Amino acid sequence: MTEFEVTPWEVKGEVDYNRLISIFGVKKIDEKVLDLMRKVFGEIPFYVRRGIFYSHRDLDVVLQDYLNGLPFYLYTGRGPSGPMHLGHIIPIMFTKYIQEKVDTILLLQVTSDEKYMYHETMTKEQIKSYTIDNIRDILALGFDVEKTYVIDDIRHINYLYQLAISVARRITYSTVRATFGFTGDTNIGMIFYMSIQATPAFLGYFIDNKFKHCLIPAAIDQDPFWRLTRDIANKLGFPKPSQIHGKFLPSLKASGKMSTSQPETALYLSDDKKAVRRKILDAFTGGQATAKLQRELGGNPDICTVYAYYKYIFEEDDKKLMERYEKCKSGTILCGECKQELISRVCAFLQKHQENKEAITESDVEAYMLDNKLKFEELIKAYEMLR
Ligand code: TYM
Repeated sequence: MTEFEVTPWEVKGEVDYNRLISIFGVKKIDEKVLDLMRKVFGEIPFYVRRGIFYSHRDLDVVLQDYLNGLPFYLYTGRGPSGPMHLGHIIPIMFTKYIQEKVDTILLLQVTSDEKYMYHETMTKEQIKSYTIDNIRDILALGFDVEKTYVIDDIRHINYLYQLAISVARRITYSTVRATFGFTGDTNIGMIFYMSIQATPAFLGYFIDNKFKHCLIPAAIDQDPFWRLTRDIANKLGFPKPSQIHGKFLPSLKASGKMSTSQPETALYLSDDKKAVRRKILDAFTGGQATAKLQRELGGNPDICTVYAYYKYIFEEDDKKLMERYEKCKSGTILCGECKQELISRVCAFLQKHQENKEAITESDVEAYMLDNKLKFEELIKAYEMLR
């Protein structure tokens, strides 16, 4: 029995990331992978150095092949069931970093269908408006329009369907049920949906057949999808997609990941200064009950949610992060000070983000959309090779 649970739709309890490695059967990023990263990226990426992206499937193969002149493309995504919080953009920012370093294409899937089927009380209009809003948030992070393809599942289903049915007929109901924990109450859309999330792991080969691999950066909750996608890839004549898995930016409250269903646990990209201030001042820290005790005993940054925000996003400098850690432990910095500084960093980040988002026009968005970038007839012709 585990006292935590991680599925693509829910994360419960205090996640033991090392145990998750053996439960999911993935590999920890080791010296060999770090060495390959140094060669490919010229450094160990920020998120890997901090242990935030920490496990993988076949990342070593992808990087080694890249060094041998065989390129890979990237695939990541977002489920538009609400406003985006800071946690959601971590895998997306990491993907952007990789895209810029290796100069490759990115397929960005926005799963309007998944969220419509999973959240049975949400309307199509709500999903559509979050789809548009979330795409604008993602694009505000600054993606190369020539190399980035945004897929909205509902809008682009005709581009995906032939791939999806080739996937679907190779996956049994009992496999999906066991992998995702579906029950007799699960609607049949969710059962088929698995094959839609698999499609961008193969679509890139139709955009350019020079690609040898597909690499998927995502938090580790999405791994069950990749396990099944990998199982059937070779049967369809494609390489198995590879993954690099991240941890969750924690909730501002004592445990768990940030959650859209509990707004006070998360910092949203759309939050104003007042909300940021309120949520951070109210956040769970590793501090002592009083300033006097804090000075005497020191705090515990390892369990502190405020410290986690510095570590994940808001302190780029490793040395300064370490100093903050030490100062907390020795009681030379108090929680109030740490919180105030975080409030101003988060507000500055969000203000810039919101300005960038505001500046994105409808035609800017359209320029990224799959149907404006790929010729439908040519794709359908190419799909004839699918068995
Ligand atoms: P979604 O919208 O739940 O999450 C979007 C991305 O954010 C990751 N994530 C987090 N990362 C850090 N901290 C958190 N607290 C946190 N919460 C979520 C997710 O792992 C994901 O990478 N079904 C997917 C959409 C999707 C997708 C993909 C995601 C389709 N294809 C390919 C990644 C890669 C979903 O609903 O993601």
